[in-house]
Order: sequence, then C-alpha cells, then structure tokens
Amino acid sequence: MFICVYLWLNNNMVDLYKLVRPFVFLMAPEQAHKAMIHALKAGLVPSAPKIDAPELEQTLWGLKFPNPVGLAAGFDKNAEVIGPAFKLGFGSVEVGTVTPRPQHGNPKPRIFRDPSTQAVINRMGFPNAGMNAFKANLEKFLSQKDRPRGVVGLNIGMNKSQTEPAKDYSTLIRMLGPMADYMVINISSPNTPGLRDLQSREPLLELLAIIKEERHKACGEHPPPVLVKLAPDLDEGQQEELAQVALEAEIDGVILTNTTLERPAGLPGDFAAEKGGLSGQPLGDKSTGIVRNFYRLTKGKIPIIGAGGVGNAAQAYEKIKAGASLVQLYSALVFRGPYVANSINCGLLAMLKADGFENIASAVGADHGA
Ligand code: FNR
Repeated sequence: MFICVYLWLNNNMVDLYKLVRPFVFLMAPEQAHKAMIHALKAGLVPSAPKIDAPELEQTLWGLKFPNPVGLAAGFDKNAEVIGPAFKLGFGSVEVGTVTPRPQHGNPKPRIFRDPSTQAVINRMGFPNAGMNAFKANLEKFLSQKDRPRGVVGLNIGMNKSQTEPAKDYSTLIRMLGPMADYMVINISSPNTPGLRDLQSREPLLELLAIIKEERHKACGEHPPPVLVKLAPDLDEGQQEELAQVALEAEIDGVILTNTTLERPAGLPGDFAAEKGGLSGQPLGDKSTGIVRNFYRLTKGKIPIIGAGGVGNAAQAYEKIKAGASLVQLYSALVFRGPYVANSINCGLLAMLKADGFENIASAVGADHGA
C-alpha cells in the first residue's frame, strides 16, 4: 500500500515534467542546465517524496548508501547543489569534475540534446571554477547541521594545459581527499586531449601508485576509497588489461562508463555530426556490456558503479544484475526531469520484490549465477 502511494506520487511527478519540458527545451541546453542549478540553489525545486527502504540500502567501502541511484559527475561541477540533489531522491551525489585551476572549457555551444533518441552530446572540456571555489562550496555543505543523508563523491581531473597528469591528481587528492566520502579519478573524458591515454597498463599503474601515496599522506588512517572512471570505448583486450590492473593495484572500485565517441545507428545526422561524448539512451547497452564484462573479469571482487543510459527502473535493474552495485545517471535528468531518481527507486523496490531478492546487494551480479 505504502509503496503504491509512493509509486503513484513519483510516476506522476515524472509525468508532470512532460508538461514543463517543452518550456525547458526552449532554452539552449547549457542555459537550461544553468537555470536548473539556480533553481535548485534557490530552493525552487520541491523535494521528492522520501523513500526510506532498507531493501535499497547498501554499505560499500564502509559508506552507507541510502539507495543505489546516484547523480553522475558533470551535473554539479562546482559542488553547489549537493543538498538539493539529495532532496530529489539521489542516494549519492558525485560532484566535479574539478581541476586544480579554474578553466573555461571549450567554446560554446558545447552541449547538444536529441529528444527523439533521448541522447546528449557534450564537449564541455571540464569548465569549472577550480579547486578553491569547489572546496569552499563543499565545506559549506558539510558544515550544515541537518544535512540530508547520502554519500558525496569527488570527481577529479587535470587542467587542459597540464602535461604531467599525476601532478594535478596529487594536488587535488591533497586538497580534497580529507573531505571526500569517495574520490574518482576521471581518466575517460573524451574532451581533454591525452586524458584517455591513461587507460592503459603502465601509465595507470604509475598514476595509481602516486595517488595512493598522496592519499595516505593527506588522509592518514582513514583514506577515502579511490575509484577509477573508464570510457565505454575499450575493446575486449583493453577491458581485460584494465581489469587485471584493477585487481593488481587493488583499486577500490570502478565507474563504468563515461560518454562514448561512437555514434550508433539511428541518431539524426546533424546531431551525430557534433564532436564530443555521447550519453543517454543510445549508450545504455554498450555501458551495460562493459559492466557485465568487468564483473566477470574481476570475479565480482571490485565494486562497480554503472552509468550510461539509465532512465528507468528496468535499465537500472539490468545494470545491477549485470554486476553494478550502484548506478548513476545524468542525461535522464534532461529528458525525464528532476524526480527520475525517486521514480527509479520505487520501481526497483517493486522489481526486487517480484524476483524474490531480499535487497539490492543480493541482486548485484545475479545474471552471472552463484
Ligand atoms: C558528463 N559526464 C561527465 N563525467 C565526468 O566524469 N566528469 C564530467 O565533468 C562530466 N561532464 C559531463 C557533462 C555532460 C553535459 C554530460 C551529459 C555528461 C559523463 C556522465 O557523468 C556519465 O558518465 C555519462 O553521461 C553517462 O551517463 P548518462 O548521462 O547516460 O546517464
């Protein structure tokens, strides 16, 4: 009964967004994003109905996630709306990508959306206000007495002008590590030249060794887990190599995946011709395939956060059964509105129940058998 009321409320909130969407889409994508950040900051977006369901809770790396649906990096680049994002129903919020120095990113326009396929292409190039502003915003959130429940991940990257990536990652770990629930090393954005080259054995092992040392120096006895975010554009051989590195270097977790450079069939020509990383519905199957492979290659020993094309409960559930302990989304916010996380959580509760799973953790990797 309780669940049904929630489902009704949440589905209707997602449906209501369909009425607002045409007006949102009158704005250019980046303008619409800015407006959303302002609205969230100003408290103009009502909170979602709260779901407190033990079936959705999970403890990973000693952190308690109230539910498995997280806000993916890139939406809140400067850590400005962590609290409001939790109030929309996300169980975790990953802020960033932040770089040590502020930077403007690529020339505008640099975000493109296609409603017909529910896809986004972006070539932002990490525009952000830099680590000092980011830290100040984060401190403000962390110092709130009655801050909402949820896990905060910090996603870090290098400045475009940096030729020695380890320097920027070390600086960021030193500065922000002590404040993080978890940290993410982003080596998979397609919009920073050279960044994706770090996705191979020797450069990654070298980088991880430096990061671990810095983490230890900065955070002492209670270092935050360090996760690595990978691209979906990795062939079988690269996936095997990176899974091996993850096991050898004892990476705490991986985020699979960032945006893709591929342009699957079915995208409108003008849209597909835009340079940058593709996200949203057309990325879904590809990123789920990478989650599935990685879970198999690591024998489920490394927790996976699945991202890419999660827009409803069935898509989140598919990633969980393929091996993701948690999921994240960004593009679905554009097409399905601010209450999509809550709607997914309601759907997941019903799906767990229908399949006889006690909780999310027992469904993780279910496709792979016992
Ligand atoms: C992103 N994404 C992203 N990822 C990241 O690690 N750092 C970033 O700064 C950004 N920036 C960013 C901007 C925009 C406009 C989009 C659409 C995406 C990637 C994002 O976190 C996620 O991995 C992918 O978008 C796939 O998930 P969705 O969007 O299909 O749910």
